Amino acid sequence: MGRIVIFTDDPGWHGKELCQAFARLGYRCHTLSLTECRLSIEPGKIPVIIPGFEHELPDAVFVRGVPGGSLEEVVLYLDILHALKLLSVPVYNDGHAIERSVDKAMTSFLLHRAGLPTPLTWVLRNRADAINIAENELKKGHYLITKPLFGSQGEGIRRIEKMTDLFWLVASNGVYYFQRFVHCSGEGFSDYRVFVINNRAVAIMRRRGKSWLNNVARGAACEAIDLDPAIADIAVNAAKALAMDYAGVDIIQDKAGQYTVIEVNSIPAWKGLESVVHTSIAALLAEDLVNRHIKPGFPESIAAVS
Ligand SMILES: Nc1ncnc2c1ncn2[C@@H]1O[C@H](COP(=O)(O)OP(=O)(O)O)[C@@H](O)[C@H]1O
Ligand SMILES: [Mg+2]
Repeated sequence: MGRIVIFTDDPGWHGKELCQAFARLGYRCHTLSLTECRLSIEPGKIPVIIPGFEHELPDAVFVRGVPGGSLEEVVLYLDILHALKLLSVPVYNDGHAIERSVDKAMTSFLLHRAGLPTPLTWVLRNRADAINIAENELKKGHYLITKPLFGSQGEGIRRIEKMTDLFWLVASNGVYYFQRFVHCSGEGFSDYRVFVINNRAVAIMRRRGKSWLNNVARGAACEAIDLDPAIADIAVNAAKALAMDYAGVDIIQDKAGQYTVIEVNSIPAWKGLESVVHTSIAALLAEDLVNRHIKPGFPESIAAVS
């Protein structure tokens, strides 16, 4: 039986779903935290030590969580992911995809560079310049969103609506990330989450927030909707722009009906999504990882033998 490591600090429902999906394909899962791994550069030894895999590396690793920590700690976790890939262990999503998407500045840059619609965004250190940008936007009648560079699940996101809001404006860990607020179409507040696997949009839902923050973790309701090919296309291109095996793409439809990519998640949850779609996301992820990365060309090799 093959062995797959799931890196997570909180296996929970997603860990269980993945373990079952991989078991159906003949792989046993081991859930571990990246904090338990280390590099050990010694002659004749495997240089990445994963507990339980000291003598043979796993067939693949599935990254369900990278712990927070100091810059050095996070760099070490990414080093481990990069090193595993260099040792020919499939890493899903790989360290580079995680780096690009965890950093909202790089995500915005790459989306824009790929010619995809994404809101106007400014990322900077200097407070006076930040205030200038915010004042200019407010004067033009726009709201601004401020986000922590490394945030998730709506944490630390604020909306600047008026000049007096600039009094409380503080950089998040020294960096200002501003984005022009996009007023969504339709009643109330909503955006879309599209789940992309191997350049295919496999599921979509509308998230209806209690306020303009449409994260499920912030109490947004999940609604089933049909997949419009236009939004599927944008989501797939967003995942491609960040070179991801799979992604959770957040998209807003503005008042003019245009879709705009807000964010691309490389470690997306799918519990809320599965409550409204009849698709086993874990099964699709497991199949994609095994078929494309562990056994690429498997059917061809059987054919060649028989
Ligand atoms: N530019 C924006 N315009 C309108 N709403 C936004 C904008 N940016 C973020 N939001 C709202 O905040 C939510 C969280 O933002 P997001 O960038 O996805 O960060 P997180 O990583 O915390 O999910 C989005 O799902 C959306 O509802
Ligand atoms: Mg998001």
